[in-house]
Amino acid sequence: MNDLSQTIHPVRRGKGSQARYAGVMSSESRGRVGLVTGGSRGIGRAVVEELLGAELEVWFCSRSSRSVDEAVASLTSRWGDRVRGRVVDVRDADAVSCFVAEVAATAGGIDCLVNNAGLGRFGSIDQLSREDWDLVLRTNLDGCFNTLRAVAPLMIEQRSGWIFNVASLASKHPFAGGAAYNASKYGLLGLSEAAMLDLRPHGVRVTTILPGSVDTDFRLPGRKATTDWMLRPEDVAQIIADFLRYPARALPSQIEIRPSQTGS
Ligand SMILES: NC(=O)c1ccc[n+]([C@@H]2O[C@H](COP(=O)([O-])OP(=O)(O)OC[C@H]3O[C@@H](n4cnc5c(N)ncnc54)[C@H](OP(=O)(O)O)[C@@H]3O)[C@@H](O)[C@H]2O)c1
Repeated sequence: MNDLSQTIHPVRRGKGSQARYAGVMSSESRGRVGLVTGGSRGIGRAVVEELLGAELEVWFCSRSSRSVDEAVASLTSRWGDRVRGRVVDVRDADAVSCFVAEVAATAGGIDCLVNNAGLGRFGSIDQLSREDWDLVLRTNLDGCFNTLRAVAPLMIEQRSGWIFNVASLASKHPFAGGAAYNASKYGLLGLSEAAMLDLRPHGVRVTTILPGSVDTDFRLPGRKATTDWMLRPEDVAQIIADFLRYPARALPSQIEIRPSQTGS
């Protein structure tokens, strides 16, 4: 496979495009940079590790300072100072904008965005609370919109970049008790596919990843107690590392991944 550096396009600054990210540089004149939301635990943490292993500088965020600090300490001891964590709630559009601006100003650009932050609240539609509905939709759907909205202009200016949105097989398959989660992930699939079409003409690739059951802290209701049959977080992370080596002409826009066993 090609090295990612061969797939980077030179910067072309369009008229009036310099106002927001004037300091953006081609990745040929700096190291490659990744930004991962929800990178402190689970799938996001595995993605951070994969990107560090691929020699990117990686910035990640999550809500809890404790989990950010723990992840930074552990990742730094293994990978050195190429990783930075910030306490950012993806539901907060202003905080997301500031985070993206900080990464762009410090690192000079963003080559890979992984919209991974997400959670679930479950309950039958006759019992689901307004609070749970809002929490799930604002995190899984609005959160992804907030980062896309902040990063897309930068990647358009770079004329390069790859955005991975972590949806779910629940983006296509509803289940009882899943009203909020299904709605958020169906919506995310639509958002991601539309963004793919919007950004493709600008040299920016968008891929939707739809995992089945992954062994993390996140649990769907009614899931089996054993976890040995499930995907591991690194199985999902490996997709991203593998895709980043694809030639610039190729855009795998949607991928489903499920455990090869159903568990007993
Ligand atoms: N596990 C599965 O079976 C599975 C299957 C399909 C899809 N997914 C999707 O994969 C993604 C990751 O799930 P996971 O299983 O890795 O879950 P997880 O182990 O619970 O990790 C979720 C991560 O997201 C962060 N987070 C949650 N809300 C956030 C917010 N508002 N702003 C910023 N960060 C936030 C969490 O940190 P803080 O708590 O510190 O914020 C944590 O780092 C989710 O989008 C999930 O829907 C999971």
